[in-house]
Amino acid sequence: MKEQKTIFSGIKPSGDLTIGNYIGAISQWVEMQERSNCIFSIVDYHAITVKQNPDDLRRRVLDITKIYLAAGINPKRSIIFQQSTVPAHTELAWILNCSGAYMADLKKMTQYKDKAGDKEEAISVGLFGYPVLMAADILLYDTQAVPVGDDQKQHVELTRDIAKRFNNEYGPIFTIPEAVVKKEGARVMSLLEPSKKMAKSDGSANAFIALLDDPELAKKKIMKAVTDSGTDIDYDPENRPALANLLTIYAQLGNRQIPRLVRDYAGKGYGDFKKDLGEVVGKFLTEFQTKFNEISDDDAQAVLEEGRKQAQEITEKKMTQIRQAIGVR
Ligand code: TYM
Repeated sequence: MKEQKTIFSGIKPSGDLTIGNYIGAISQWVEMQERSNCIFSIVDYHAITVKQNPDDLRRRVLDITKIYLAAGINPKRSIIFQQSTVPAHTELAWILNCSGAYMADLKKMTQYKDKAGDKEEAISVGLFGYPVLMAADILLYDTQAVPVGDDQKQHVELTRDIAKRFNNEYGPIFTIPEAVVKKEGARVMSLLEPSKKMAKSDGSANAFIALLDDPELAKKKIMKAVTDSGTDIDYDPENRPALANLLTIYAQLGNRQIPRLVRDYAGKGYGDFKKDLGEVVGKFLTEFQTKFNEISDDDAQAVLEEGRKQAQEITEKKMTQIRQAIGVR
């Protein structure tokens, strides 16, 4: 039998998932599971690097599990699990904190710099070390490919550096992973500020469309989305980033090609385009949420429990190898 690639990715339960998370990450996963061994996590220990309400956190872990399932991740083919239920992740993060991860590298991380701003003194050590836990997630499974949105590429690069340093010191323990980023849709932008990525943590709810937004509300958000100057529909990310973003969303959620869309909208204006895009997004959300609503909390719990067992087995084997290599066993 041909060897299948091992894929790992995850999402942190720190807010309502957006169509950005779906387009940039989850939609890739669904395709990849057909030809790879896939492991998808809900990374709750990453979420607590910023303050979380405990009840909301618990709820979101279940909701994201259901989102994975509704999107088409098949738990018979792929492992779905909650990060905090598999202790090897934090154990390896500690080991990598000591061997492989350097302060200077962590300080360069764009996500850290954005979050820390100029208030470094009041930033938790956890937020600083966040990419080391992510490296542990990936390296524990001998992962070859990490399908993520564009914003996580830097963290995967750092994971490679950490793994190489560790291997230099202790021998070939870790597989060196690669980030896999989509050609289109790797960075879905805010509907209000097209220079910023669409984020679940955005203060303005009109800036993003959540996967669980009421479809009618989502249509209104599309109508309120900013557009660039000009009236015709063309794809020019440099000069007309807002429109390019809307075209990307249309193509990704409506299963269309951008050049074809541009041709179809020749001679039409923003009004027609946005109305149709609203319909495409509304239809996508309606179908997605129908599947989501068919999955019970109990179903989600059962999937997480099965995933935990499988992840536990893989990671325990790997940890035995790692503990021996560094001399703690
Ligand atoms: P998170 O939870 O911020 O985002 C989850 C995934 O969604 C992608 N994404 C986007 N893609 C396109 N456009 C957007 N606007 C957009 N917003 C988010 C992200 O790139 C990501 O792929 N550190 C990670 C979680 C993580 C992880 C891991 C990922 C922890 N351990 C191991 C891969 C492997 C994060 O915060 O993603």
